[in-house]
Amino acid sequence: MDEGKEMFLIKEGNELRGEIEVYGAKNAALKIFAASILFNEPIIVKNVPEIEDIARCKELLEFMGGRVQNTGKREYKISSNLINSSILEPKISKSMRSSIVFTGPMLAKFDKVEFPHPGGCVIGERPIDVFLEGFEKLGAKITIQQNGYILEAKKLRGAKIIFKKISVTATETLMMAAALAEGKTILYNSALEPEIPALADFLNSCGAKIKGAGTYKIEITGVKNLKFKNPYVIIPDRIEAGSFAILAAILGKEIKITRCEPNHLLVFLEYLKYVGAEIEKGKNFLKISSPKKLKSIDVKTREYPGFPTDLQAPFVALLTQAEGKSIVTETIFEGRLNYIEDLNRMGAKIMPCDPRRIIIEGKTDLRGKEMESPDLRAGLAFVLAALCAKGESIIHGVYKIDRGYEKIEKRLQKLGADIERIKS
Ligand code: EPU
Repeated sequence: MDEGKEMFLIKEGNELRGEIEVYGAKNAALKIFAASILFNEPIIVKNVPEIEDIARCKELLEFMGGRVQNTGKREYKISSNLINSSILEPKISKSMRSSIVFTGPMLAKFDKVEFPHPGGCVIGERPIDVFLEGFEKLGAKITIQQNGYILEAKKLRGAKIIFKKISVTATETLMMAAALAEGKTILYNSALEPEIPALADFLNSCGAKIKGAGTYKIEITGVKNLKFKNPYVIIPDRIEAGSFAILAAILGKEIKITRCEPNHLLVFLEYLKYVGAEIEKGKNFLKISSPKKLKSIDVKTREYPGFPTDLQAPFVALLTQAEGKSIVTETIFEGRLNYIEDLNRMGAKIMPCDPRRIIIEGKTDLRGKEMESPDLRAGLAFVLAALCAKGESIIHGVYKIDRGYEKIEKRLQKLGADIERIKS
Protein backbone atom coordinates (compact mmCIF):
# COMPACT_ATOMS: atom_id res chain seq x y z
CA MET A 1 0.00 0.00 0.00
CA ASP A 2 1.27 3.44 -0.90
CA GLU A 3 -0.42 5.47 1.83
CA GLY A 4 -0.44 9.12 0.96
CA LYS A 5 2.31 9.09 -1.67
CA GLU A 6 0.21 8.99 -4.80
CA MET A 7 -2.21 11.61 -6.01
CA PHE A 8 -4.56 12.30 -8.85
CA LEU A 9 -4.01 15.23 -11.14
CA ILE A 10 -7.34 16.06 -12.75
CA LYS A 11 -8.01 18.68 -15.39
CA GLU A 12 -11.25 20.25 -16.46
CA GLY A 13 -13.52 17.66 -17.94
CA ASN A 14 -14.55 17.19 -21.49
CA GLU A 15 -17.79 15.52 -22.33
CA LEU A 16 -17.22 11.85 -21.49
CA ARG A 17 -18.35 9.01 -23.69
CA GLY A 18 -17.81 5.31 -24.25
CA GLU A 19 -18.12 2.14 -22.22
CA ILE A 20 -17.08 1.40 -18.68
CA GLU A 21 -17.21 -2.04 -17.12
CA VAL A 22 -18.29 -2.70 -13.54
CA TYR A 23 -16.07 -5.09 -11.58
CA GLY A 24 -16.95 -7.46 -8.76
CA ALA A 25 -18.46 -5.99 -5.60
CA LYS A 26 -15.98 -5.06 -2.90
CA ASN A 27 -18.53 -5.64 -0.18
CA ALA A 28 -19.39 -9.09 -1.54
CA ALA A 29 -15.81 -10.23 -2.19
CA LEU A 30 -14.62 -9.31 1.32
CA LYS A 31 -17.28 -11.57 2.83
CA ILE A 32 -16.40 -14.51 0.58
CA PHE A 33 -12.77 -14.19 1.66
CA ALA A 34 -14.00 -14.40 5.26
CA ALA A 35 -16.33 -17.31 4.43
CA SER A 36 -13.33 -19.31 3.14
CA ILE A 37 -12.46 -19.92 6.81
CA LEU A 38 -15.55 -22.13 7.15
CA PHE A 39 -14.12 -24.73 4.72
CA ASN A 40 -11.84 -27.72 5.18
CA GLU A 41 -10.49 -27.23 1.67
CA PRO A 42 -9.42 -24.34 -0.60
CA ILE A 43 -12.10 -22.35 -2.40
CA ILE A 44 -11.88 -20.58 -5.76
CA VAL A 45 -13.39 -17.17 -6.32
CA LYS A 46 -13.71 -15.27 -9.60
CA ASN A 47 -14.43 -11.64 -10.51
CA VAL A 48 -12.59 -10.39 -7.42
CA PRO A 49 -11.77 -6.68 -7.76
CA GLU A 50 -8.06 -5.81 -7.53
CA ILE A 51 -8.48 -3.27 -4.76
CA GLU A 52 -6.66 -2.37 -1.55
CA ASP A 53 -9.26 -3.90 0.76
CA ILE A 54 -8.86 -7.28 -0.93
CA ALA A 55 -5.07 -7.01 -0.59
CA ARG A 56 -5.60 -6.45 3.14
CA CYS A 57 -7.92 -9.46 3.44
CA LYS A 58 -5.23 -11.55 1.79
CA GLU A 59 -2.71 -10.29 4.35
CA LEU A 60 -5.13 -10.96 7.19
CA LEU A 61 -5.65 -14.60 6.13
CA GLU A 62 -1.96 -15.15 5.40
CA PHE A 63 -0.96 -13.75 8.78
CA MET A 64 -2.99 -16.56 10.36
CA GLY A 65 -1.32 -19.19 8.18
CA GLY A 66 -3.81 -19.26 5.29
CA ARG A 67 -2.69 -19.01 1.68
CA VAL A 68 -4.24 -16.75 -0.97
CA GLN A 69 -3.05 -17.28 -4.53
CA ASN A 70 -3.86 -15.17 -7.55
CA THR A 71 -4.69 -17.94 -10.04
CA GLY A 72 -5.88 -15.85 -12.96
CA LYS A 73 -7.26 -12.45 -13.84
CA ARG A 74 -9.31 -11.48 -10.81
CA GLU A 75 -9.34 -15.12 -9.70
CA TYR A 76 -8.12 -16.39 -6.34
CA LYS A 77 -7.57 -19.72 -4.67
CA ILE A 78 -8.03 -19.24 -0.94
CA SER A 79 -6.69 -21.93 1.38
CA SER A 80 -7.96 -20.91 4.79
CA ASN A 81 -7.83 -24.59 5.80
CA LEU A 82 -4.15 -23.86 6.56
CA ILE A 83 -5.00 -21.30 9.26
CA ASN A 84 -3.17 -22.06 12.50
CA SER A 85 -3.76 -18.95 14.60
CA SER A 86 -6.84 -17.40 16.15
CA ILE A 87 -5.54 -13.84 16.21
CA LEU A 88 -6.72 -11.28 13.67
CA GLU A 89 -3.55 -9.26 13.10
CA PRO A 90 -4.23 -5.98 14.92
CA LYS A 91 -2.63 -3.52 12.49
CA ILE A 92 -4.49 -4.92 9.47
CA SER A 93 -7.77 -5.30 11.37
CA LYS A 94 -7.61 -1.76 12.62
CA SER A 95 -7.13 -0.48 9.09
CA MET A 96 -10.24 -2.22 7.77
CA ARG A 97 -13.71 -2.23 9.29
CA SER A 98 -14.72 -5.39 7.45
CA SER A 99 -12.08 -7.37 9.41
CA ILE A 100 -14.92 -7.80 11.93
CA VAL A 101 -16.62 -10.13 9.43
CA PHE A 102 -13.78 -12.64 9.89
CA THR A 103 -14.73 -13.12 13.55
CA GLY A 104 -17.93 -15.09 12.69
CA PRO A 105 -16.27 -17.83 10.61
CA MET A 106 -13.25 -17.91 12.97
CA LEU A 107 -15.44 -18.61 15.96
CA ALA A 108 -17.54 -21.13 14.04
CA LYS A 109 -14.45 -23.03 12.95
CA PHE A 110 -12.14 -22.66 15.95
CA ASP A 111 -12.80 -22.26 19.67
CA LYS A 112 -11.52 -18.77 19.90
CA VAL A 113 -10.86 -15.52 18.08
CA GLU A 114 -8.94 -12.51 19.29
CA PHE A 115 -9.27 -9.16 17.54
CA PRO A 116 -8.91 -5.41 18.08
CA HIS A 117 -11.71 -2.88 17.68
CA PRO A 118 -11.93 -2.68 13.89
CA GLY A 119 -11.03 0.53 12.08
CA GLY A 120 -11.52 1.54 8.46
CA CYS A 121 -12.82 4.69 6.83
CA VAL A 122 -13.46 7.41 9.37
CA ILE A 123 -17.16 7.94 8.71
CA GLY A 124 -18.53 7.75 12.24
CA GLU A 125 -18.14 5.90 15.48
CA ARG A 126 -18.85 2.42 14.10
CA PRO A 127 -19.52 0.40 17.28
CA ILE A 128 -19.72 -3.42 17.31
CA ASP A 129 -22.36 -3.92 20.03
CA VAL A 130 -24.76 -5.66 17.63
CA PHE A 131 -22.10 -8.26 16.79
CA LEU A 132 -21.20 -8.89 20.41
CA GLU A 133 -24.84 -9.28 21.45
CA GLY A 134 -25.32 -11.80 18.63
CA PHE A 135 -22.23 -13.82 19.56
CA GLU A 136 -23.35 -13.92 23.17
CA LYS A 137 -26.74 -15.31 22.07
CA LEU A 138 -24.91 -18.04 20.14
CA GLY A 139 -23.18 -19.00 23.38
CA ALA A 140 -19.82 -17.27 23.07
CA LYS A 141 -17.95 -15.96 26.07
CA ILE A 142 -16.75 -12.41 25.45
CA THR A 143 -13.73 -10.90 27.17
CA ILE A 144 -13.17 -7.22 26.60
CA GLN A 145 -9.54 -6.19 26.99
CA GLN A 146 -7.75 -2.90 26.70
CA ASN A 147 -6.62 -3.71 23.16
CA GLY A 148 -9.64 -5.56 21.88
CA TYR A 149 -11.80 -8.59 22.36
CA ILE A 150 -11.57 -12.35 22.83
CA LEU A 151 -14.52 -14.52 21.83
CA GLU A 152 -14.56 -18.13 22.97
CA ALA A 153 -16.99 -20.99 22.40
CA LYS A 154 -16.40 -24.74 22.34
CA LYS A 155 -19.51 -25.05 20.17
CA LEU A 156 -21.85 -22.32 18.99
CA ARG A 157 -25.54 -23.06 19.51
CA GLY A 158 -28.42 -21.81 17.36
CA ALA A 159 -30.44 -18.97 18.87
CA LYS A 160 -33.00 -16.31 18.09
CA ILE A 161 -31.15 -13.04 17.53
CA ILE A 162 -33.10 -9.81 17.21
CA PHE A 163 -30.86 -7.07 15.86
CA LYS A 164 -31.68 -3.81 17.57
CA LYS A 165 -30.05 -2.02 14.64
CA ILE A 166 -29.95 -3.06 11.02
CA SER A 167 -26.34 -3.86 10.19
CA VAL A 168 -25.02 -5.33 6.94
CA THR A 169 -21.83 -6.85 8.32
CA ALA A 170 -23.44 -8.03 11.58
CA THR A 171 -26.06 -9.90 9.52
CA GLU A 172 -23.33 -11.52 7.42
CA THR A 173 -21.02 -12.29 10.33
CA LEU A 174 -23.68 -14.00 12.41
CA MET A 175 -25.11 -15.78 9.38
CA MET A 176 -21.67 -17.32 8.80
CA ALA A 177 -21.19 -18.13 12.48
CA ALA A 178 -24.59 -19.84 12.59
CA ALA A 179 -23.90 -21.85 9.43
CA LEU A 180 -21.80 -24.33 11.43
CA ALA A 181 -23.58 -23.91 14.80
CA GLU A 182 -25.62 -26.64 16.44
CA GLY A 183 -29.35 -26.24 15.70
CA LYS A 184 -31.38 -23.43 14.26
CA THR A 185 -30.66 -19.71 14.32
CA ILE A 186 -33.11 -16.98 13.43
CA LEU A 187 -31.76 -13.54 12.57
CA TYR A 188 -34.52 -10.99 12.90
CA ASN A 189 -34.32 -7.40 11.56
CA SER A 190 -31.55 -8.48 9.19
CA ALA A 191 -30.13 -6.16 6.55
CA LEU A 192 -31.42 -6.68 2.98
CA GLU A 193 -28.39 -5.63 0.89
CA PRO A 194 -27.86 -7.86 -2.22
CA GLU A 195 -24.44 -8.92 -0.90
CA ILE A 196 -26.25 -10.90 1.82
CA PRO A 197 -28.28 -13.25 -0.42
CA ALA A 198 -25.16 -13.54 -2.60
CA LEU A 199 -23.20 -14.82 0.40
CA ALA A 200 -26.06 -17.13 1.40
CA ASP A 201 -26.28 -18.51 -2.16
CA PHE A 202 -22.58 -19.31 -2.09
CA LEU A 203 -22.79 -21.02 1.30
CA ASN A 204 -25.94 -22.92 0.30
CA SER A 205 -24.22 -24.14 -2.88
CA CYS A 206 -21.66 -25.71 -0.52
CA GLY A 207 -24.18 -27.42 1.74
CA ALA A 208 -25.27 -24.68 4.18
CA LYS A 209 -28.95 -24.41 5.07
CA ILE A 210 -29.86 -20.74 4.96
CA LYS A 211 -33.36 -19.51 4.15
CA GLY A 212 -34.67 -15.99 3.76
CA ALA A 213 -31.42 -14.09 3.05
CA GLY A 214 -32.42 -10.82 1.42
CA THR A 215 -35.44 -10.54 3.74
CA TYR A 216 -35.54 -9.25 7.31
CA LYS A 217 -35.82 -12.80 8.73
CA ILE A 218 -33.07 -15.28 8.01
CA GLU A 219 -33.27 -18.88 9.22
CA ILE A 220 -30.07 -20.88 9.42
CA THR A 221 -29.97 -24.56 10.28
CA GLY A 222 -26.43 -25.38 11.29
CA VAL A 223 -24.60 -28.13 9.37
CA LYS A 224 -21.49 -30.11 10.39
CA ASN A 225 -19.34 -28.86 7.52
CA LEU A 226 -19.40 -27.22 4.12
CA LYS A 227 -18.01 -28.72 0.93
CA PHE A 228 -16.73 -26.39 -1.79
CA LYS A 229 -18.03 -27.35 -5.23
CA ASN A 230 -17.77 -24.78 -8.02
CA PRO A 231 -15.77 -21.58 -8.42
CA TYR A 232 -17.83 -18.72 -7.13
CA VAL A 233 -18.33 -15.54 -9.20
CA ILE A 234 -18.63 -12.29 -7.24
CA ILE A 235 -21.72 -10.19 -8.07
CA PRO A 236 -21.23 -6.79 -9.78
CA ASP A 237 -20.48 -3.82 -7.54
CA ARG A 238 -23.67 -1.79 -7.32
CA ILE A 239 -21.87 1.15 -5.72
CA GLU A 240 -19.31 1.25 -8.50
CA ALA A 241 -22.15 1.14 -11.07
CA GLY A 242 -23.97 3.92 -9.18
CA SER A 243 -20.78 6.03 -9.04
CA PHE A 244 -20.34 5.70 -12.81
CA ALA A 245 -24.03 6.50 -13.32
CA ILE A 246 -23.59 9.75 -11.36
CA LEU A 247 -20.53 10.63 -13.42
CA ALA A 248 -22.53 9.99 -16.60
CA ALA A 249 -25.39 12.17 -15.34
CA ILE A 250 -22.95 15.06 -14.79
CA LEU A 251 -20.67 14.79 -17.83
CA GLY A 252 -21.75 11.85 -19.95
CA LYS A 253 -22.82 11.49 -23.52
CA GLU A 254 -24.33 8.02 -23.78
CA ILE A 255 -21.98 6.36 -21.33
CA LYS A 256 -22.63 2.63 -21.31
CA ILE A 257 -22.05 1.00 -17.94
CA THR A 258 -21.61 -2.69 -18.65
CA ARG A 259 -21.65 -5.90 -16.56
CA CYS A 260 -23.77 -4.30 -13.86
CA GLU A 261 -27.00 -5.33 -12.15
CA PRO A 262 -29.50 -2.44 -12.58
CA ASN A 263 -32.02 -4.25 -10.34
CA HIS A 264 -29.70 -3.61 -7.38
CA LEU A 265 -30.01 0.14 -7.97
CA LEU A 266 -33.73 0.62 -8.57
CA VAL A 267 -34.41 3.32 -5.97
CA PHE A 268 -31.16 5.14 -6.68
CA LEU A 269 -31.99 5.20 -10.41
CA GLU A 270 -35.35 6.82 -9.64
CA TYR A 271 -33.47 9.69 -7.99
CA LEU A 272 -31.12 9.94 -10.93
CA LYS A 273 -34.05 10.00 -13.32
CA TYR A 274 -35.73 12.73 -11.28
CA VAL A 275 -32.69 15.01 -11.46
CA GLY A 276 -32.93 14.69 -15.22
CA ALA A 277 -30.46 12.01 -16.27
CA GLU A 278 -31.42 10.21 -19.45
CA ILE A 279 -31.33 6.53 -18.57
CA GLU A 280 -31.70 3.41 -20.67
CA LYS A 281 -31.79 0.26 -18.62
CA GLY A 282 -30.88 -3.18 -19.97
CA LYS A 283 -30.57 -6.57 -18.30
CA ASN A 284 -26.96 -6.00 -17.32
CA PHE A 285 -26.14 -2.54 -18.59
CA LEU A 286 -27.12 1.09 -18.15
CA LYS A 287 -26.77 3.82 -20.77
CA ILE A 288 -26.77 7.28 -19.28
CA SER A 289 -26.45 10.81 -20.65
CA SER A 290 -26.30 14.13 -18.90
CA PRO A 291 -29.33 16.38 -19.48
CA LYS A 292 -29.05 20.08 -20.49
CA LYS A 293 -30.01 20.98 -16.94
CA LEU A 294 -29.89 18.96 -13.74
CA LYS A 295 -32.70 19.49 -11.21
CA SER A 296 -32.33 19.67 -7.43
CA ILE A 297 -33.82 16.99 -5.18
CA ASP A 298 -33.98 16.10 -1.47
CA VAL A 299 -32.25 12.86 -0.52
CA LYS A 300 -32.23 10.77 2.65
CA THR A 301 -29.91 7.80 2.79
CA ARG A 302 -31.55 4.55 3.84
CA GLU A 303 -30.77 0.89 4.28
CA TYR A 304 -31.25 -1.19 1.12
CA PRO A 305 -33.31 -0.87 -1.01
CA GLY A 306 -33.26 2.86 -0.16
CA PHE A 307 -30.77 5.45 -1.37
CA PRO A 308 -27.32 4.00 -0.47
CA THR A 309 -25.13 5.92 1.98
CA ASP A 310 -22.15 4.87 -0.17
CA LEU A 311 -23.49 7.01 -3.03
CA GLN A 312 -24.34 10.03 -0.90
CA ALA A 313 -21.07 11.96 -1.35
CA PRO A 314 -20.82 11.32 -5.12
CA PHE A 315 -24.48 12.39 -5.47
CA VAL A 316 -23.77 15.63 -3.58
CA ALA A 317 -21.04 16.35 -6.14
CA LEU A 318 -23.79 16.01 -8.76
CA LEU A 319 -26.20 18.23 -6.80
CA THR A 320 -23.66 21.09 -6.88
CA GLN A 321 -24.40 21.06 -10.63
CA ALA A 322 -28.20 20.95 -10.26
CA GLU A 323 -30.40 24.06 -10.46
CA GLY A 324 -32.01 24.94 -7.13
CA LYS A 325 -31.83 23.87 -3.52
CA SER A 326 -31.33 20.25 -2.41
CA ILE A 327 -31.37 18.91 1.12
CA VAL A 328 -29.32 15.79 1.83
CA THR A 329 -29.76 13.85 5.08
CA GLU A 330 -27.29 11.12 6.03
CA THR A 331 -29.10 8.68 8.30
CA ILE A 332 -26.62 5.76 8.38
CA PHE A 333 -23.18 7.15 9.34
CA GLU A 334 -22.97 10.42 11.27
CA GLY A 335 -19.45 11.20 10.01
CA ARG A 336 -20.22 10.97 6.34
CA LEU A 337 -20.61 14.66 5.55
CA ASN A 338 -16.97 15.36 6.36
CA TYR A 339 -16.06 16.46 2.85
CA ILE A 340 -18.26 19.51 2.29
CA GLU A 341 -15.69 22.12 3.26
CA ASP A 342 -13.48 20.97 0.42
CA LEU A 343 -16.32 21.14 -2.09
CA ASN A 344 -17.07 24.65 -0.79
CA ARG A 345 -13.44 25.63 -1.33
CA MET A 346 -13.99 24.54 -4.93
CA GLY A 347 -16.90 26.99 -5.17
CA ALA A 348 -19.85 24.82 -4.12
CA LYS A 349 -22.50 26.35 -1.85
CA ILE A 350 -23.17 23.70 0.77
CA MET A 351 -24.52 24.75 4.17
CA PRO A 352 -24.42 22.32 7.10
CA CYS A 353 -27.72 22.35 9.06
CA ASP A 354 -26.72 19.78 11.68
CA PRO A 355 -24.23 16.88 11.77
CA ARG A 356 -26.44 14.80 9.49
CA ARG A 357 -28.01 17.35 7.15
CA ILE A 358 -26.79 19.76 4.48
CA ILE A 359 -28.38 22.17 2.01
CA ILE A 360 -26.81 22.45 -1.42
CA GLU A 361 -27.51 25.47 -3.59
CA GLY A 362 -26.88 24.97 -7.25
CA LYS A 363 -25.80 25.32 -9.83
CA THR A 364 -22.29 26.47 -8.90
CA ASP A 365 -19.19 26.78 -11.05
CA LEU A 366 -16.48 24.71 -9.45
CA ARG A 367 -12.78 25.59 -9.57
CA GLY A 368 -9.95 23.08 -9.30
CA LYS A 369 -8.25 22.82 -5.90
CA GLU A 370 -5.84 20.65 -3.93
CA MET A 371 -7.67 18.26 -1.59
CA GLU A 372 -7.17 15.22 0.60
CA SER A 373 -9.66 12.31 0.32
CA PRO A 374 -11.24 11.87 3.75
CA ASP A 375 -12.58 8.41 2.85
CA LEU A 376 -13.28 6.12 -0.07
CA ARG A 377 -16.63 7.49 -1.23
CA ALA A 378 -15.89 11.16 -0.51
CA GLY A 379 -12.63 10.65 -2.43
CA LEU A 380 -14.65 9.52 -5.44
CA ALA A 381 -16.93 12.56 -4.98
CA PHE A 382 -13.81 14.76 -5.24
CA VAL A 383 -12.84 13.02 -8.48
CA LEU A 384 -16.28 13.76 -9.93
CA ALA A 385 -16.22 17.37 -8.72
CA ALA A 386 -12.71 17.86 -10.11
CA LEU A 387 -13.78 16.52 -13.51
CA CYS A 388 -16.43 19.21 -13.82
CA ALA A 389 -14.33 22.01 -12.24
CA LYS A 390 -12.48 24.71 -14.19
CA GLY A 391 -8.70 24.31 -14.03
CA GLU A 392 -6.60 21.72 -12.32
CA SER A 393 -7.24 19.72 -9.15
CA ILE A 394 -4.93 17.57 -7.08
CA ILE A 395 -6.40 14.84 -4.90
CA HIS A 396 -4.18 13.35 -2.22
CA GLY A 397 -4.86 10.15 -0.32
CA VAL A 398 -5.53 8.17 -3.49
CA TYR A 399 -4.99 4.91 -1.58
CA LYS A 400 -8.34 5.53 0.08
CA ILE A 401 -10.02 5.55 -3.34
CA ASP A 402 -7.99 2.45 -4.27
CA ARG A 403 -9.62 0.65 -1.34
CA GLY A 404 -12.81 0.29 -3.34
CA TYR A 405 -12.30 1.27 -6.99
CA GLU A 406 -9.85 -0.72 -9.13
CA LYS A 407 -7.52 1.51 -11.18
CA ILE A 408 -10.20 4.14 -11.45
CA GLU A 409 -8.02 6.61 -13.38
CA LYS A 410 -7.34 4.13 -16.21
CA ARG A 411 -11.03 3.40 -16.58
CA LEU A 412 -12.02 7.07 -16.56
CA GLN A 413 -9.29 7.91 -19.08
CA LYS A 414 -10.98 5.53 -21.52
CA LEU A 415 -14.11 7.70 -21.30
CA GLY A 416 -12.03 10.77 -22.18
CA ALA A 417 -11.36 12.06 -18.65
CA ASP A 418 -8.17 14.00 -18.03
CA ILE A 419 -6.96 12.23 -14.90
CA GLU A 420 -3.48 11.01 -14.08
CA ARG A 421 -1.94 9.20 -11.12
CA ILE A 422 1.28 10.87 -10.08
CA LYS A 423 3.82 10.38 -7.30
CA SER A 424 4.27 13.25 -4.92
N1 EPU B 1 -23.95 -0.09 14.01
C1 EPU B 1 -23.99 -0.08 15.37
N2 EPU B 1 -23.56 -1.19 16.04
C2 EPU B 1 -23.09 -2.27 15.40
C3 EPU B 1 -23.06 -2.30 14.00
C4 EPU B 1 -23.50 -1.18 13.32
O1 EPU B 1 -24.41 0.90 15.98
O2 EPU B 1 -22.70 -3.24 16.09
C5 EPU B 1 -24.40 1.09 13.27
C6 EPU B 1 -23.29 1.73 12.44
O3 EPU B 1 -22.46 2.55 13.23
C7 EPU B 1 -24.08 2.51 11.42
C8 EPU B 1 -25.28 1.58 11.17
O4 EPU B 1 -25.35 0.71 12.30
O5 EPU B 1 -24.53 3.71 11.95
C9 EPU B 1 -25.21 0.74 9.94
O6 EPU B 1 -23.94 0.14 9.84
P1 EPU B 1 -23.66 -1.28 9.18
O7 EPU B 1 -23.16 -2.18 10.25
O8 EPU B 1 -24.81 -1.69 8.35
O9 EPU B 1 -22.47 -0.92 8.23
P2 EPU B 1 -21.30 -1.88 7.94
O10 EPU B 1 -21.82 -3.26 7.89
O11 EPU B 1 -20.14 -1.56 8.80
C10 EPU B 1 -21.52 -1.99 5.32
C11 EPU B 1 -20.60 -1.66 4.18
C12 EPU B 1 -20.45 -0.15 4.10
C13 EPU B 1 -21.83 0.46 3.88
C14 EPU B 1 -22.77 0.04 5.00
C15 EPU B 1 -24.19 0.50 4.81
C16 EPU B 1 -19.13 -3.54 4.15
C17 EPU B 1 -17.75 -4.06 4.37
N3 EPU B 1 -19.32 -2.27 4.42
O12 EPU B 1 -20.89 -1.44 6.47
O13 EPU B 1 -19.63 0.10 2.99
O14 EPU B 1 -21.71 1.85 3.87
O15 EPU B 1 -22.80 -1.41 5.11
O16 EPU B 1 -24.69 0.05 3.62
O17 EPU B 1 -20.00 -4.28 3.70
C18 EPU B 1 -18.13 1.39 1.69
O18 EPU B 1 -18.15 0.46 0.87
O19 EPU B 1 -17.61 2.51 1.45
C19 EPU B 1 -18.74 1.17 2.99
C20 EPU B 1 -18.48 1.94 4.05
